[in-house]
Order: sequence, then structure tokens, then C-alpha cells
Amino acid sequence: MEILRHAVVLVHLVGFAVLFGAWVVEAAGKRGITRLMHWGLGIALAAGLVLSAPWGLDHDLNYTKIGIKIVVLIIIGALLGIGAGRERKSGSVPAPVFWSIGVLTLLNAGLAVIWR
Ligand code: HEM
Repeated sequence: MEILRHAVVLVHLVGFAVLFGAWVVEAAGKRGITRLMHWGLGIALAAGLVLSAPWGLDHDLNYTKIGIKIVVLIIIGALLGIGAGRERKSGSVPAPVFWSIGVLTLLNAGLAVIWR
């Protein structure tokens, strides 16, 4: 069970890597919203929900932290939607929307690693 849980953590990390990696590529380039960001978010959410059930664990889960991570993820999803819409209409993503996506993604990773 523990190995299976670690495998799901790995999938969760792949989601984070895809979302953040796609964002970094865009930060150094066109500063747009890409499909890969949506995929990364979806993968992180699906694996995160599976990890939110208490299985294969020898400690309690921090549900306050998990709740905050879900809220942050929903905000990232909303910003991806808003950014993609604005990019379609005007050709560019507003800077605060674009930068918030990267900062909030890092915030969620930071919460996961630093707050036990
Ligand atoms: C962009 C969004 C997210 C990012 C960047 C992210 C990042 C991470 C990272 C880096 C870890 C590994 C921490 C460690 O093991 O030291 C982790 C673990 C975890 N994440 Fe997320 N996460 C995100 C969204 C979510 C969401 C939405 C949920 C819940 C629905 C969630 C639930 C969990 C749980 C339960 C663990 C703990 C795994 C364990 O210790 O067994 N995450 N997350």
C-alpha cells in the first residue's frame, strides 16, 4: 500500500512539474497560457484527491493544509481560464494573471513541503 501511495505522490509531482515547467518556459518566452499548464493542473488535482484519502499512511493527514491547497488550485484554474480567454481576445495575458499562476503554483508546492 505504501509503495502504491508513493507512486501516486510521484504522479502528483509530475503534475506539478508539467504545470510549473510549462509556466517557466512561457515566463522566458511569450508569457501565454498553454494546454500543458491545464494538463499539469488536472494531473496534480486528480492525484491530490487520491492522496487526500487516508490510506497507506502511518501519520494523520493535515486537512487544513489540504483545504488551502484545493482553494489555491481552484484559483490557479480560474486564472488559467481568465488568462486563456484574454489571450484569445487581445493576444496577450495580463501580467498580474500570468505571474500569479507561477507564484501560486510555487506556494502550493511550498505548503506541501514546508508545512507538515
Ligand atoms: C498546483 C497544485 C499543487 C501542487 C504544486 C502540489 C505540490 C505537492 C508536492 C510537491 C507534494 C509532495 C510533498 C512531500 O511529499 O514532501 C504534495 C503532496 C501532497 N499533495 Fe499536493 N500539490 C498541489 C495540489 C494539491 C491538491 C489540490 C491536493 C488535494 C486535493 C493535494 C494533496 C496532496 C497530499 C494529500 C499530499 C501528501 C502526500 C503524502 O504525504 O502522502 N495537492 N503536493
